[in-house]
Amino acid sequence: MATSTTRAVGVDIGGTGIKAGVVDLQAGELVSDRMKVPTPAGAEPKDVLNAVREVLDKLEVADDTDISLGVAFPAIVKNGRTLSAANVSDKWIGFEAEKFFEDGLGRDIHFANDADVAGIAEVRYGAAKGVDGLVILTTLGTGIGSAMIYDGVLIPNSELGHLQRAGHKRDAEGYAAYSAMEREELSWEKWAKRLQWYYDYVQFLFSPDLFVVGGGVSKHADEFLHLLKLDTPIVPAVHRNNAGIIGAASLAVAVPEALPAVAQASA
Ligand code: BGC
Repeated sequence: MATSTTRAVGVDIGGTGIKAGVVDLQAGELVSDRMKVPTPAGAEPKDVLNAVREVLDKLEVADDTDISLGVAFPAIVKNGRTLSAANVSDKWIGFEAEKFFEDGLGRDIHFANDADVAGIAEVRYGAAKGVDGLVILTTLGTGIGSAMIYDGVLIPNSELGHLQRAGHKRDAEGYAAYSAMEREELSWEKWAKRLQWYYDYVQFLFSPDLFVVGGGVSKHADEFLHLLKLDTPIVPAVHRNNAGIIGAASLAVAVPEALPAVAQASA
């Protein structure tokens, strides 16, 4: 069981990199360096486990079981199992991932979808704090991840990166993720046109009160957010690309009274 404490370790497994840090849960900030190792080619379970060990070693917490550990993963996560695999090996589909990491690391972990935990970080400590109604956080990276939070309650595994485009083969993330911009060497303006289509569609479907944009590219928000014309306010994630680490860490710990509370719909 996770213990109640004010520090925890967060690991954010992404399509291209695995990032980790020690997080102060009162402040919602990293209190260590941010460590990063590349996601192994093919992202097979045993290789990803080894890479997670490596990043925990770098943080010097691999053997410290007194500090709770949260792990975020880029797939649908239900009851500790991964149910999809868009940018990782197909072996993760229907895989007992939480148990696999717990056995492999020799400790309890808390395990959840990467975009969902980034959403939780932004509700507890960032751009979505205190916002009523529906907040949709999207992460723009290798894929597009989404977190839907209604009045502070997370509705897990929304997977809005896989909306289909009528008449096209590629789904939303194949067309509009940051990786599509890099792959096709698009200008900010050309990429923003794709994002315009994406956010228009999500806005039409859900009428959110706020969009929050996370993922690695959120540090360049000034380059593209002003190009989007939406009725819904759209802001960068306060914690930029650290939201996954912070959210994973904060989910790993029973929330002490003094911490900003967030409810979570059970997955
Ligand atoms: C996955 C999501 C994930 C997102 C961002 C998508 O391809 O299906 O589960 O949140 O990428 O990593």
